[in-house]
Amino acid sequence: MGELDTLTAGALAQIRDAGTVPALEDIRVRWLGRKGTLTEQLKTLGSLPAPERPTAGARINAAKSAVQSAIEQRRAELESAAIEQQLSAGAIDVTLPGRGEAQGGLHPITAARLRIEQIFRRAGFEVAEGPEIEDDFYNFEALNMPANHPARAMHDTFYLKDGRLLRTQTSTVQIRAMQRAVQTGSLPLALIAPGRVYRRDSDVSHSPMFHQVEGLYVDENVSFANLKSTLHKFMEAFFEQDLSMRLRPSYFPFTEPSAEIDISCVLCRGAGCRVCKQTGWLEIAGCGMVHPAVFKACGIDTERYTGWAFGAGIERLAMLRHGVNDLRLFFDNDLRFLASFAGGRS
Ligand code: FA5
Ligand code: MG
Repeated sequence: MGELDTLTAGALAQIRDAGTVPALEDIRVRWLGRKGTLTEQLKTLGSLPAPERPTAGARINAAKSAVQSAIEQRRAELESAAIEQQLSAGAIDVTLPGRGEAQGGLHPITAARLRIEQIFRRAGFEVAEGPEIEDDFYNFEALNMPANHPARAMHDTFYLKDGRLLRTQTSTVQIRAMQRAVQTGSLPLALIAPGRVYRRDSDVSHSPMFHQVEGLYVDENVSFANLKSTLHKFMEAFFEQDLSMRLRPSYFPFTEPSAEIDISCVLCRGAGCRVCKQTGWLEIAGCGMVHPAVFKACGIDTERYTGWAFGAGIERLAMLRHGVNDLRLFFDNDLRFLASFAGGRS
């Protein structure tokens, strides 16, 4: 029975050294489990003379409960140490400087497009779309530019191997929309069509991929005066200032008469500056009355209907609105440039 004291002392030493709750559980099983060392001691009682058995049994049970309570105490210590450690590891130091939340934002071209859409929607125009890969008919032929028409040379076109092309202008959407309106009997028609267009062109004010917004209004008695007033109101809404507007005679194969639209410079308000090359005017869009040949290509009765169309560069509108002087900045995706628009004005 002297052995029992040695065993108990060994068990208590192990319990004291246990560093984790699972290690402690192993110790418990080793000493008190069904085949544990102290449990096994009880099985030796049968070999003792009968008078000694009660005393020996009581001593073994006392040893077991001493070990049991040492385990419980150590378990409580380990558990509260674990909680302490979790608390201190996760502690929040409220005096540390914040990490800062970067605010994202729409790309300035996307913001400008949405702004244009919103202004025209309020005026009752629908927003239409068309494919960026087009064929010769929609990009040229139906727009009154038959093969060998000299105006084709102004659009340095990207061609695909199969003869299709990347559209050079959103005017393609005019044709698709008028064809659809004829098929579904849904004239009159008032729409804008913003989207990407492509030309072999690259410098501070030209990019091989850029955005245009097309406008088209077809109805009975549509006049040039209506075109002028609609665009004037749009420009004033877009730039949020009173503007002067003038029309200069121009040429587009798909409009007749055609005009180039200038607005008074939004930066110097007409006084003359670097952006308007000291003229006080900015060229902002091409426009005109839909050419009868275009109506015919779409099956629209030219006796009954007239219409106007315009096309403007979205990058140009965004550059002027934000005072950006190099169009290529919109496509370099330099985060410092883009961040200057984050969360700001569209
Ligand atoms: C046209 O593309 C005609 N489809 C516009 C039109 C529509 C006229 C309907 C009449 C009726 P133009 O080639 O001028 O026209 O282009 C229109 C605008 O697109 C230009 O004023 C300019 O702002 C922009 N633009 C043209 N080429 C580029 C380019 N490479 N990079 C950026 N913007 C461009
Ligand atoms: Mg032009």
